[in-house]
Amino acid sequence: MPVYLNNAATSWPKPETVPVAMTAFLTSGGANLARGTSSNRDLKTLNAVLDCRVRLSTLLGGYGGFRGCFPAGKPALRAPELQSGSSECGNPLNVTFCSNITEALNIVLKGYLRQGMSVLTSSMEHNAVMRPLRTLERDGVIRLTLIPSGTDGLMDLKSLQDTLASERFDLMVMAHASNVCGTIQPVEEIAGMCGKAGVPLVLDTAQTAGVLPLSAKSLGLAALCFTGHKSLLGPQGTGGIVWNPEFAAQVTPLITGGTGSYSHLEFQPDDLPDRFESGTPNLPGITGLNAALTWLEEEGMEKILLRERALGSHLLEGLLATEGMELAGMHEIDGRLPVFPVNIRGLDNAILANRLSLMGFETRPGLHCAPSAHRSLGTFPQGALRVSPGYFNTLQDIDDFLNALSEAARELKKEG
Ligand SMILES: Cc1ncc(COP(=O)(O)O)c(C=O)c1O
Repeated sequence: MPVYLNNAATSWPKPETVPVAMTAFLTSGGANLARGTSSNRDLKTLNAVLDCRVRLSTLLGGYGGFRGCFPAGKPALRAPELQSGSSECGNPLNVTFCSNITEALNIVLKGYLRQGMSVLTSSMEHNAVMRPLRTLERDGVIRLTLIPSGTDGLMDLKSLQDTLASERFDLMVMAHASNVCGTIQPVEEIAGMCGKAGVPLVLDTAQTAGVLPLSAKSLGLAALCFTGHKSLLGPQGTGGIVWNPEFAAQVTPLITGGTGSYSHLEFQPDDLPDRFESGTPNLPGITGLNAALTWLEEEGMEKILLRERALGSHLLEGLLATEGMELAGMHEIDGRLPVFPVNIRGLDNAILANRLSLMGFETRPGLHCAPSAHRSLGTFPQGALRVSPGYFNTLQDIDDFLNALSEAARELKKEG
């Protein structure tokens, strides 16, 4: 069994209940969503999908109380928060599913941005944000301004403040935490500045959803985009958007088609979630994500965060003591996730990663789909070997990795 230290790419392993739920859906659940009768299987599928929306809306602080979601007396569907009357659950219908956060961000950006708009983003973005924006910029649709970041990966707030004061912007989009170096941005402060300037803020929570407290509503976000397969611990092929419904109404759907609703209409319905959910969704994936969210609720996010911090602390201490170590980004454990971009002086990080892989340790070398972030950190073009432990790692894994790292570096240097 390899020691898996690439959780920033995707979390592994998943809670055991995830594949169990997915198998059960494929072998005995298996009905399509709102495209059948009211058979038990149809209702079970509706329930599972609604359950998952409720959990996401609760975890990510969705907009709108659930009480206003349904006409009186409806639905007869079971979802724990709907039954218990918890007021912390946003309206689950403001959550839309798609296949990953890349699709989510494309839906938001390409559906909202129009000719002549001005957009702000940071220099730490993943290509899931950067490529749609650069394409729109190249095609003459938008003007794009990047807020610089320091070598610690933190956005320069003074520059943001000055830029917001200098002209009118139509949108800001940014990652909550860096997938390269784990730096967490001060999102409350940034959201406050955007709010004051009247700029809608879209947050990429790929690295933080499931491990940091989040509230789309408290932050006043226009849209919170998430991916299901990282810290939410669900399967690949899941992700989505928690919408501010007023913002959603200004976004043109990227994909239109059948929704299982309003079948008499030949135009896309305006209602959420149907507005952005055409075609049969990834139902086995949503079922698996729902199982993962249930597991997360039972385990408790604080416990997960503390464990990941302890693993990160131990790893950081060991990395800093490793001969020839060049650690990019922050050198502290506070204000970050356990994501560490490292180089060993004189060695190619891809060759080092390959040697570690042969020794049973999985990491990720290179530029991590974030060239601009590496430029900010001073690690472009060589990139770095990214080490990202997760909840299921042990302190022993970290010790074994640190020993292997030193041994691999020694061997490679000897081999010249
Ligand atoms: C910050 C950030 N944004 C976006 C993405 C894209 O995620 P996905 O491949 O699930 O769409 C990632 C994945 O690494 C990421 O770390």
